[in-house]
Amino acid sequence: MGVDGSSPPLPDGRGLCSAALLRQLARPPTPIVRGLPPPRGPILGEDLQLALYVCYELHYRGFDGVDPEWEWNPELLGWRGRLERAFLSALRAEADSAPLAEQLSALLTEPLDGTGPSHFLRAHGERWQVREYLVQRSLYHLKEADPQAWAIPRLHGAAQAAFVAIEFDEYGDGHGERVHSRLFADMMRDFGLDPAYNHYLDRVPAEGLAVVNLMSLFGLHRGLRGALVGQFAGVEIASSPGSARLVEALTALGAGEAGTRFYREHVEADAVHEQLVRRGVIGELLRQEPQLEDDIAFGLAASALLEDRLAQRMVSNWTKGRSSLHLGLLDAPAGS
Ligand SMILES: [Fe+2]
Ligand SMILES: [Fe+2]
Repeated sequence: MGVDGSSPPLPDGRGLCSAALLRQLARPPTPIVRGLPPPRGPILGEDLQLALYVCYELHYRGFDGVDPEWEWNPELLGWRGRLERAFLSALRAEADSAPLAEQLSALLTEPLDGTGPSHFLRAHGERWQVREYLVQRSLYHLKEADPQAWAIPRLHGAAQAAFVAIEFDEYGDGHGERVHSRLFADMMRDFGLDPAYNHYLDRVPAEGLAVVNLMSLFGLHRGLRGALVGQFAGVEIASSPGSARLVEALTALGAGEAGTRFYREHVEADAVHEQLVRRGVIGELLRQEPQLEDDIAFGLAASALLEDRLAQRMVSNWTKGRSSLHLGLLDAPAGS
């Protein structure tokens, strides 16, 4: 279930590489792994993004029936490294290369004519589209703050203290019922969705997988700690106004108390986190390690690039009355 510690089942493959990986993981790990083909195909496509997602998931909850020893299997890590290098070079080629200060100030100015999913849902949202939005977001929010927690031992002094202060809020300020992943699970239930961890993995398209893979990639490599802080900052700075729009949209579509609490919490918390992340985390980190400035900018830009791709997938499909999910609608709109 979403809030206990059990492992989800393995997903279905989406092509040669992911299918081969899933076949391997169902077996006991061996020092020599035969049967993992060289990664082929678009790195942002369904097959390779799912393969990367499954590799990373071994560091979180793993999968039912998969030996935990796979997490540190050297051959699998080598194979994952090839996917990661391709992912990173695609991001470096496509992400905006604007300086950090410019990106940070752009984040603070909300466009009047925004076009993202929260704008769409507030203006024209239907219940089935909100359900899709929650499904798309569930892979991350059911493990909210976990990928960023890997930054904690890699930050020091005042930057670490400010970072942990934000993470402490994400983990419910010491109260299990207020952990953000728990609030998200409660909201899913309010919208008739299953909050089991990774329950909708088979329905989230490559664009949604890539958003989470980015955090895991940055989180698992100490050398990318600056990029992880950039990704984290982007979320904390931009989330408050979007969350407020989502509260309006969900309320209009019949959400109960539990159906808006997650976003209500983020309207308030992220207004505070925005200040903490800018001054406390980025400001302090740059004082200690000024050479990380370009990495922080890269993390922010790469995260924005992938968030935009996912937003476009949702809005362009919904505008045409179509599902944004992998494999189409969860169920008929009339029954949603
Ligand atoms: Fe949160
Ligand atoms: Fe936050």
